[in-house]
Amino acid sequence: MKTMEAILKRRSIRQFTNQPIAQDDLNTLLRAAMMAPTARNCQEWEFVIVQKKETFQKIMHIHPYAKMLEQANCAIIVCGNTQREHAPGYWMADCGAATQNILLAATSLGIGSVWLGVYPNEERMNGLAKILNLPEYIKPLNIIALGYPNEKKEEIDRFDPAKIHVEKW
Ligand SMILES: Cc1cc2nc3c(=O)[nH]c(=O)nc-3n(C[C@H](O)[C@H](O)[C@H](O)COP(=O)(O)O)c2cc1C
Repeated sequence: MKTMEAILKRRSIRQFTNQPIAQDDLNTLLRAAMMAPTARNCQEWEFVIVQKKETFQKIMHIHPYAKMLEQANCAIIVCGNTQREHAPGYWMADCGAATQNILLAATSLGIGSVWLGVYPNEERMNGLAKILNLPEYIKPLNIIALGYPNEKKEEIDRFDPAKIHVEKW
């Protein structure tokens, strides 16, 4: 799939079939993540892969908008390593870029995905840190739920000329 096609096709998918995601495909998603740009090329990301149903259940207890994990085949928790970032706060931008790469790579492989926000909600960050045994300097940005789509989302076009400011506001 061409890049622009994946960008236009990507939608949040919250219903999944029980078809497993192959390890090779999961590696492709992680390779895409690690090709994202980062400030000073710090690459301060860390990825926690979760596939156990019991862990999904625990996450659903601390995240109110994560019910689709019930059906997910796999989840990637994208985290920032604050010991490695260029300056305080850069981990969020860098890990956000990695996240978008995962979503687009998943779309191109026919895998459905949805970004579940964690940072900056402290309750969710602390809850996830406990469940996943994260060290204090590892900050979870989000959970990406993954699986083969069991719903169809139409392509939409959000292009809005009113959002574009030329030269000055
Ligand atoms: C920072 C962030 C947090 C989000 N959190 C959630 C979430 O907790 N649960 C959920 O179902 N979707 C979540 N989403 C997905 C958005 O709801 C979705 O991207 C938005 O409605 C646009 O729809 P689309 O992704 O299909 O284009 C989140 C997206 C972002 C970028």
